[in-house]
Amino acid sequence: MEEESNCDAMSESNVKYYTLEEIKHHNMSKDTWLIIHDKVYDITSFLEEHPGGEEVLLEQAGADATESFEDVGHSTDAREMLQQYFVGELHMDDRKKESAKDIYITSGESSSWTIWLIPALAAVVVGLMYRYYLLEHRSS
Ligand code: HEM
Repeated sequence: MEEESNCDAMSESNVKYYTLEEIKHHNMSKDTWLIIHDKVYDITSFLEEHPGGEEVLLEQAGADATESFEDVGHSTDAREMLQQYFVGELHMDDRKKESAKDIYITSGESSSWTIWLIPALAAVVVGLMYRYYLLEHRSS
């Protein structure tokens, strides 16, 4: 669901990109923006509603709150709530950690099949050795 709506937003190509420099200015209780997973949220109206209190949000105001948001282990409901405060995306030039993480995850995924290759080869070798042993045994 979340991915679909993001794709829609992209195809409309009216997604706004904000630089860290711009986002930094929205760091007060009257105007609070947060970055979570490279997306920018205007959570000014949510401050008082936040079950975790407004202070934790204000501490991260105008900056990247991805780590603290994930550390808390927010529910799916909390993640869905984010959508209504979405105002744009972090400018590509300011995305560093996330893309590095993506590369790590991708390379991790691609190497997962090699984990199966070694036991599979070992099984084939053991099978051949057993066959050889049986043949030897029969002929003697
Ligand atoms: C706009 C972003 C955020 C939204 C929509 C949000 C939403 C919520 C919601 C719905 C809960 C209730 C529990 C749950 O459903 O997971 C919650 C709890 C909590 N949140 Fe957030 N949160 C946001 C950002 C943050 C950030 C950046 C922090 C930390 C710096 C934080 C810290 C906490 C804490 C500590 C609780 C636990 C409160 C408790 O159980 O006593 N939240 N949040």
